[in-house]
Amino acid sequence: MKRAPEQAAASKGLVVPRSVAVIMDGNGRWAKQAGFARIKGHEKGISAVRTTVTECAQLGVSALTLYAFSEENWHRPKSEISLLMKLLERFLTQERATLMANQIRLVHAGRRARLSPKTLALLDATIALTAANHGMVLCLAISYGGRQEIVDAVKTLASEIAAGHVAREAIDEAAISERLYQPTLPDPDLLIRTAGEMRVSNFLLWQIQYAEIWVTPVCWPDFGKRELHAAFVDYGQRIRKFGKVL
Ligand code: FPP
Repeated sequence: MKRAPEQAAASKGLVVPRSVAVIMDGNGRWAKQAGFARIKGHEKGISAVRTTVTECAQLGVSALTLYAFSEENWHRPKSEISLLMKLLERFLTQERATLMANQIRLVHAGRRARLSPKTLALLDATIALTAANHGMVLCLAISYGGRQEIVDAVKTLASEIAAGHVAREAIDEAAISERLYQPTLPDPDLLIRTAGEMRVSNFLLWQIQYAEIWVTPVCWPDFGKRELHAAFVDYGQRIRKFGKVL
């Protein structure tokens, strides 16, 4: 019998954030250290994605956003881009059973323009298949950039103002938030980055305003339940003031 998420978390002494975002870095370094080609690191990264997605869903996380492919990643060698897209396509078909079994709803954040018709078709089909699931939302950031997302939101807003649907005076933070790629997702409470770099790399720039940041030296292919739980334990010890005095 499956335990309720709260029970599962409490028994492990974890504090489960409502919304988690992950910069899955270090696939290339992991492969190099192991003496493999870079793509082996990305392949191994898929298993790590499965582990983190199912564990977050089972622990009761409401929204998990994974940085799978950035706008800047289009500048990588063509061969690596094409292999990464193949892996994404494979994930979008092979993981359907796992998504359904765990009541996970898939959504996408990012620009669609440069994604191939095949990638878009698989993405849209898996989004449609999982649309009625009522558990965790899994947001895949693909062809995603934080600055680009803000630019796109501002463009939408400018068109609405030009068309007379929105008044200039009505522009506030909510007006921007409502025009982001996935406006209904809660802002991340916890941002995890693997492979040790201390930067945010154009990820969810608007949404991570008050996210707690947790960085591990472990490369993404080696990131498993142990690391995820360590992040949640550390998160539970943070004092979140949101700029106020407690
Ligand atoms: C960063 O490692 C990782 C990426 C650019 C891609 C992440 C993709 C995956 C984990 C697999 C596909 C994902 C999904 C959701 C199906 P890097 O190549 O920049 O590593 P390095 O900095 O060590 O070179």
